[in-house]
Amino acid sequence: MKPIERLFERDGLPRFALPAGLATSYGGDFGLARPLLYANFVASVDGVVTVPGDVESGGVVSGGSEADRFVMGVLRAAADAVLIGAGTFRAGAGDLWHPEAAFPAARGPFVELRRQLGLRPQPLLVVVTASGHIDPAQPALGDCLILTTAQGESRMRGNLPNGASIAVLEAQPFNARSMLELLHARGLHVILTEGGPTLVGQLLAENLLDELFLTTSPRLFGKRSGDGRKSLVDGVDLGGRALELLSVGRHESHLFLRYAHRAP
Ligand SMILES: NC(=O)c1ccc[n+]([C@@H]2O[C@H](COP(=O)([O-])OP(=O)(O)OC[C@H]3O[C@@H](n4cnc5c(N)ncnc54)[C@H](OP(=O)(O)O)[C@@H]3O)[C@@H](O)[C@H]2O)c1
Repeated sequence: MKPIERLFERDGLPRFALPAGLATSYGGDFGLARPLLYANFVASVDGVVTVPGDVESGGVVSGGSEADRFVMGVLRAAADAVLIGAGTFRAGAGDLWHPEAAFPAARGPFVELRRQLGLRPQPLLVVVTASGHIDPAQPALGDCLILTTAQGESRMRGNLPNGASIAVLEAQPFNARSMLELLHARGLHVILTEGGPTLVGQLLAENLLDELFLTTSPRLFGKRSGDGRKSLVDGVDLGGRALELLSVGRHESHLFLRYAHRAP
């Protein structure tokens, strides 16, 4: 892959000793603070993040961008856990949410980065579902934690593979802070959320998100009232919340933006 061109980076960001191939393709150094809750999304120029139907929206919105998949792989490779809502899980049938599932060619450097950082072999997938409507045959359930309600737990009990564990949260809908505290209590401190817009909206509304990695894809989708397309945040009013730009990369016509979320 042609390297991402680094156009801007704020001074003082954390830096890992990235395996050589990753640093070259990423366009320079990369690192994350610990603990950290960070999100990764791709949006079109007109702000569309999800397209309805049985498709994985990210790939459609990015136009199959290789660089976007590479960045997704790097962000997964540095995480203790990948946190997603059930809507994203249901749309991503067959996915494992592993780094090399996003970018197979960098499997070796991803393994090396996780070894250097002292992380478990793969990030733990954490799925949030109130209903428990989860397809038990999905391969990602072989190593995952499901946060659900008592009703969701009774729906799933006995149907899940051995590698899936369930934690029941009391409030409905769950309070995002209680989800995060549960993950911290299980030793998961560097948490990547891949959304979707409903879940990330709750994390933002409760001021829990530290950083946002946003790919701007050079595409226009448009929107009709009620057509099911969503922008980055859905279901909450954030009132013009400020973000601080941390870095900008470019790969052909895609932009790779990294923001700090400054809670009020
Ligand atoms: N372009 C991108 O970068 C990108 C990234 C991620 C996702 N996506 C797309 O986004 C779409 C899905 O997004 P979405 O907003 O519809 O759904 P979502 O945020 O992925 O998941 C929403 C679901 O998660 C559960 N949930 C979330 N918060 C909860 C809470 N506080 N308490 C209890 N349950 C909670 C509920 O599951 P139950 O319904 O099971 O109760 C809820 O219906 C998919 O099309 C996906 O492909 C795009």
